[in-house]
Amino acid sequence: MAKGVTLVLALSAIVSRTVALELPDFIKVCKRNDPEIESCIKDSVEFLRPKLMTGVPEYSIPSLEPLLLKELVAAEGSNGLRITAKDVKAFGASNFIIQKIRVDLDTLRFALDILLPHLYIEGLYEIDGRVLLLPIRGNGPMTGNMTDATGSVKIQADFFKDELGESHLILSEFRMRINIRKGSLNLENLFGGDPTLGTVVNNAINSNFDSFIKELQPLIEKALSTAFQDFGNNIVRPFTYDQLFPEK
Ligand SMILES: *[C@@H]1O[C@H](CO)[C@@H](O)[C@H](O)[C@H]1NC(C)=O
Repeated sequence: MAKGVTLVLALSAIVSRTVALELPDFIKVCKRNDPEIESCIKDSVEFLRPKLMTGVPEYSIPSLEPLLLKELVAAEGSNGLRITAKDVKAFGASNFIIQKIRVDLDTLRFALDILLPHLYIEGLYEIDGRVLLLPIRGNGPMTGNMTDATGSVKIQADFFKDELGESHLILSEFRMRINIRKGSLNLENLFGGDPTLGTVVNNAINSNFDSFIKELQPLIEKALSTAFQDFGNNIVRPFTYDQLFPEK
């Protein structure tokens, strides 16, 4: 009995290894020697975009909408004000626009300039400190918008070989830098929901949005980089380099 099971497992392992995973139709391939490879890859990403929104469970590709950011902390030194946001969901990351793309298949380096037109976030905040000399401490739900962020992405890929000796790509480094230009936060339920004080504090925070967002920026960059890197790897890793970038 145990022997039979082992045999079946061994056979199925052989079968699954020798049958190459077929390329799904949402992956549009680019020829390795395409002189227009940059615009080809840009088109592939556009073609893939609907899948970035929904995810593809059959290929273990998660949805980018929403993106979950575990914890964001912003402290404003001068007033000793500290805002912590937890369980943040960001919507809109899949609407990035590629403005420029550079591809070097010899070094496996990719660089992109992007625009993030609108990120909408919702989560739970905790605030502690002073705003306009008012001591405040509290927590509740928050929402926010960040518009017209520009960014750059640098990706380093590497080859690895599967059990059959076939080369696959893995995105080993993925660094996204973003520059958030405009935005606003709305902390709900401040001062037990007092609307006047709540508005005063929200306005004060938003008039300092720049300094808050500067603090949040590295954390948002990290979260976006990790999400896009995982996403990219789930897309490229299962397929061979020859499948993704055929010679002819
Ligand atoms: C964010 O934008 C949406 C519409 O795009 C708006 O309804 C909402 O009030 C904004 N929230 C904040 C905190 O600015």
